[in-house]
Amino acid sequence: MNHSANMHLRAPLPADLIDAVRAFTRGDIDAAIVLGSGLGGFAETVEIIDERATEDFPGYPASTIAGHDGRLLVAHAQGKRLLLFQGRVHGYEGYGPAMTALPARLAAALGAGLLIVTNAAGGLDPSFDAGDLMLISDLLVLPAARGMGAELQDFGTDAQPLTRPLFDPLLLDTARRAAADAGIPLREGTYGFCSGPTYETRAEIAFFRLAGVHAAGMSTAPEIISASRAALPVLAVSCITNVARTVRQAVTHEEVTRVAAQASDDLARFVHALLRRI
Ligand code: HPA
Repeated sequence: MNHSANMHLRAPLPADLIDAVRAFTRGDIDAAIVLGSGLGGFAETVEIIDERATEDFPGYPASTIAGHDGRLLVAHAQGKRLLLFQGRVHGYEGYGPAMTALPARLAAALGAGLLIVTNAAGGLDPSFDAGDLMLISDLLVLPAARGMGAELQDFGTDAQPLTRPLFDPLLLDTARRAAADAGIPLREGTYGFCSGPTYETRAEIAFFRLAGVHAAGMSTAPEIISASRAALPVLAVSCITNVARTVRQAVTHEEVTRVAAQASDDLARFVHALLRRI
């Protein structure tokens, strides 16, 4: 069994969890896809082979928020075999990076060819509109902003550098072409990670803007970093659910999941176009 993909984390993946997911997937996975807040509808556009609640997998962390189903699905689409993570867990639910990065760690352990991560995010670039999709091309991570510092050691205490770019430039280009195939205007930019669960303060919005961040959210960064460190090719797309046009915004979880659900048709078309190209 290949556990090497997990060696960079202090807390190794439990072998029985890997075994249970491998037994569930029964075969090679071309792409693992994490479906974020309100974006679970992609599962309705694929041929589902099998599905199971995450609570049926030993050691799988429980999702505690609305809009996050907590299900794993094996599916076919565009001739590819997929593992879908419907819902994810977040740091603000009390989980450390070992758990928030779990889909990436499992995908790496299973030898998946690609990880596609999706999320709902707040737009900080005033030219963005609610419902836009943004290809993530870089990350700004401020995880200690609200007291998550201690759990950071789950990523390893050996201060390993990120030895490769987070995203393969050729894969980013494939994503751009896929969006063009599907006729979807794809924004692109830097995702700013903050731990939440409250949305950004005015000062944080202003700071992120100054720092060149295009969209902010509370997930995805651990998965991207974990995938990069495990040499698992990764693409990440944000659904922009709200845009901070001034430094003041009032955003609610209901609004986020509603707009994400509306944009999930575009996301599904984009992902299908991407699967055709990989
Ligand atoms: N901030 C952080 N996370 C989010 C937002 C936001 O404005 N919208 C959706 N997820």
